[in-house]
Order: sequence, then structure tokens, then C-alpha cells
Amino acid sequence: MSKQFDVVVIGGGPGGYIAAIRAAQLGLNTACIDEWKNDKGGPAPGGTCTNVGCIPSKALLQSSEHYAHAAHHFAEHGIGLKDLSIDVKKMLGRKDAVVKQNNDGILYLFKKNKVTFFHGRGSFVKAAEAGYEIAVAGAANETLLAKQVIVATGSNARALPGVPFDEDSILSNDGALRIGAVPRRLGLIGSGVIGLEMGSVWRRLGAEVTVLEALPTFLGAVDEQIAKEAHKAFTKQGLKIELGVKVGEIKTDKKGVTVAYADAKGAAQTLAVDKLIVSIGRVPNTTGLNADGVGLKLDERGAIVVDGDCRTNLPGVWAVGDVVRGPMLAHKAEEEGVAVAERIAGQHGHVDFNTIPWVIYTSPEIAWVGQTEQQLKASGRAYKAGTFPFLANGRARALGDTTGMVKFLADAATDEILGVHIVGPMASELIAEAVVAMSFRASSEDIARICHAHPSLSEATKEAALAVDRRTLNF
Ligand code: FAD
Ligand code: NAI
Repeated sequence: MSKQFDVVVIGGGPGGYIAAIRAAQLGLNTACIDEWKNDKGGPAPGGTCTNVGCIPSKALLQSSEHYAHAAHHFAEHGIGLKDLSIDVKKMLGRKDAVVKQNNDGILYLFKKNKVTFFHGRGSFVKAAEAGYEIAVAGAANETLLAKQVIVATGSNARALPGVPFDEDSILSNDGALRIGAVPRRLGLIGSGVIGLEMGSVWRRLGAEVTVLEALPTFLGAVDEQIAKEAHKAFTKQGLKIELGVKVGEIKTDKKGVTVAYADAKGAAQTLAVDKLIVSIGRVPNTTGLNADGVGLKLDERGAIVVDGDCRTNLPGVWAVGDVVRGPMLAHKAEEEGVAVAERIAGQHGHVDFNTIPWVIYTSPEIAWVGQTEQQLKASGRAYKAGTFPFLANGRARALGDTTGMVKFLADAATDEILGVHIVGPMASELIAEAVVAMSFRASSEDIARICHAHPSLSEATKEAALAVDRRTLNF
């Protein structure tokens, strides 16, 4: 006997589990199927984000940042330390415990919201009367009948052609989060978000880190002024970043990995490292879904084709998160999940793609929302810019972390905020104010007139807004 549901969600990452919770909150009888296994073979919902992405990477960034503070900054505060050491096994154990807390938290949330959870692989069997038949292959095999289906099957790391991940020497994000000892020499291919975050973790712990990037510009999607400032800071920390390279043959032996590449001038080079992380982007995942069998349309990248509301070409089938177009970010997946659940329930779910924030959790952190200066120039929109350096912010001085700035871009005529870009301490938290402001279509003057607590890093946000009108008070 098939179990019947109003909504079946395939995939329990941030897109899927949040969609399931919202659908259940709206009174829909909802199931979520997720196949991720923990090291004991049990369920580990939360997807890439919880298991091998956002959460474990931030746990390791935190541990390594503590280490870097102890090694390089405690002395300024008069704190002396002898015999500083890092127990990598313990650090990884803490990271695993943080991951488990999040897995367990999601299972608890399913219970609390009456979402039925199935541990296993979900796939389309066929269209059925008023919906779809979905098979679950797992510890117990089941057949479900769903009136509506939300596909949230996420993404996988992209490998270099002919260089599969062995997760020992050639690592994806998964292996990069499980390196058992600080490598003496670490190589990374791709200076995107993972390259910089993972490179930072192991650099802080003492590895010699070299990043090889194909593009001639550093962090091309980031506002140029912010990217330059970040590049300066990373170089000072000892990250070697080579731009404009062409990666050639990669060889592995007992001693490690050798990467042949042509540098920006075309000269042949080799990089010898103990471990190599390949972080050159991710590919949408529809493995085992039987998309072909039911005629679910994919694009040339393998992403499920959806409209602006996450509707696929099949009636009653929706798709959200990394498996569809748009930025591969957990909060984007969540917003889409909520909006789809609301649409299924007859509400008007909405995602504002113009105000999705980006954060790179390096030190200094990089965060932004809206358009960059180069995008505004390219579109011909007249704008005003205002910047304020953390060097002139009292809280940043007290923290001992004065790298970077806040930058506002506002429409030249209306003063509406078009973009906010931050490189510096706690940029990940500071960006929220800019997201709120842009969501309410605020002007830079609105932020400039709002009282900000003193001393706080957020005063740099206010001052950058004042700088748009050339009237900073503290710089
Ligand atoms: P996923 O999280 O990939 O979840 C998909 C789930 O579906 C998985 O559990 C998978 O096992 C399951 N699944 C797939 N197929 C099936 C099937 N047929 N049946 C059952 N289950 C199935 N984003 C941020 O916003 N902030 C960050 O700080 C951040 N850090 C990251 C760090 C790293 C190292 C990586 C790799 C990614 C990071 N991301 C971050 C990106 C973020 O993890 C993804 O954008 C997010 O996880 C996408 O969510 P999703 O629900 O679409 O897919
Ligand atoms: P990415 O798209 O951020 O960066 C990939 C980089 O690799 C690019 O700079 C690209 O030019 C380069 N590249 C591609 N092919 C190359 C080649 N053959 N040789 C050298 N360089 C090459 O992808 P990344 O870092 O793998 O991360 C995947 C996604 O995961 C991110 O785009 C982001 O959506 C998400 N993520 C988000 C995080 C966050 O929000 N803090 C953290 C980590 C990942």
C-alpha cells in the first residue's frame, strides 16, 4: 500500500528540509526523503550544507582563527602563551560534533512539525492519478504517492577532467574538511569561495598554501575595490595566489601531488604539494532521480529547468536550491523552499533575488549585497559611492582588527542603495543591515540618519552611508 502525501520533498538539505517544514506548518501532509548517511549508516539530514559545507567549514574556520589569534595577536594584549599547539584530531572531532548537533536538530524539527522523514534515495516511478509515485530505496523500501513534489537534490563538487577525487591526495570539499594533520604544502585549484575558506583554515595552522586560479582577476564577482583589499590581506597572511594559470597534467605518487601548469605569462611551472583541493565550482545533482523516466527537463549544465517561481516543466513538480539556476547558497535554497511551500498552499511566496547576500568567511570576511561598482558602470547607471575604513572605527581598533572598509553604492538621483560591499571584521553580520535596507528600498541617507550603537562596527556602515554625501564624521 502506498503512503499518500500532499507534498513529498526529495532531498533534505537547506532547500528541502526547510520546504518540508514550511509545507507542514501550512497544514500540508508532508514527507521528506534524504539519503545522506552518517559514519554509522544512520540518517544525517541537512545536505551538503550541514555535512560537508557551510557548517563544518565554519567550525574549522573558527578553530583555526582561535589558533591564529593565539599565535599572532594574543601577545599584543599582554597575553603570553608557551608551547602553542594544535590537536587536529580534536579539532576535527569538535567539527563532527557540531555537524551532528545540526543533523539531530533537523530530525527534531521534522518531529516537531510532523514531517514524515524517510532515510533513503527517492526517485520518480511514474505520474499517477493526481500526482506522482515516488520510490524510496533505503533501509526500508517504500512507495509514496505525492500530489506535489519538490526536488531539492543539491549539487556535487566538480572534478577536473580526468582527475577524479580520491579524497586522500586529490580532495573535494568533503576530503578538505577531513585532512587528518596539517599538510606541509597544500595546493588549491580555484580561488573561489571554497578555495579561500579552506586555504585560510590550513594556512592559519601553518601549511604553505598555493592557490592556482584560471581567471586573470581575483574574485571577479566581488566589487573590485573590495577584492583588491582582500587580496592584499590574504597575501600578507602568506596565501600564495597565482592568477591566470592554465592547469595541465596532475600526477599523484607516494610523495604527494604534482601539478603542471602554465603561469600567466605562459611559462611552464610545476607545483608539488602533499594534498590538493580542487574547488572549481559545483554541478547540479539529479543522480538516481529518474528525471528522464518522467520527462523532467534539465539544461545543458544538468540543472533542473525552472521558471522564476521554481516550477519545472512537469505539473505539480517544483525544484529549489543548488539543483536549479542561481547562486549556490544555503539561504537562497531556503528562501526558494519556503516560497514553493507557500505557493503550493495557495499563498504568494516570493524570493527577492536582488537582495541575496554573499559572505566569504575568511579573515577579513567579505560580504556584499546588490550590485558592484563595475556592474553599475557596465549598465551605465549613474551612482554615488561612499566608503569608510575600519581603521577609523573605535570598536575595530579595540578589537585589534582594522583591515578593510564598508562601501555604499547609491543611485545618483534618488539615493536608493544599489549595493553594499564590506571587507573586514564581522562583515557576515554587518551585511544584514544592508539587506534589510535594500529590501525596504532605503536610501543611503536613511542609514546615515539612523542611530547606531557606539562603539560598534556598525558605525562604519553608518559612516559609509554618510560618505555617499561626503559628510563622514569620523574620517
Ligand atoms: P544540498 O545541501 O546539497 O542537499 C541535497 C540533499 O539531497 C543531500 O542531503 C543529498 O544527499 C540529498 N539527495 C540527493 N539526491 C537524492 C535522492 N535522489 N533521494 C534522496 N536524497 C537525495 N552556502 C552558504 O550559503 N554559506 C556558506 O557558508 C556555505 N559554505 C559552503 C562550504 C562548502 C565547503 C560547500 C561545498 C558549500 C557551501 N555552501 C555555503 C553552499 C551550500 O552548502 C549549498 O548552497 C546548499 O547546501 C544547497 O542546498 P540544497 O538543499 O539545494 O542542496
Ligand atoms: P567558485 O565558483 O566559488 O570558484 C571556483 C573558482 O575556480 C573560480 O574562481 C574559477 O575561475 C576557478 N576555476 C574553474 N576552473 C578552473 C581551472 N580549471 N583551473 C583553475 N581555476 C579554475 O566555486 P567553489 O569555490 O568550488 O565553491 C562552489 C560554490 O559553493 C560557490 O560558488 C558557492 O556557491 C558555494 N560556497 C559558498 C560559500 C559561502 O557562501 N561562504 C563557501 C563555500 C562554497
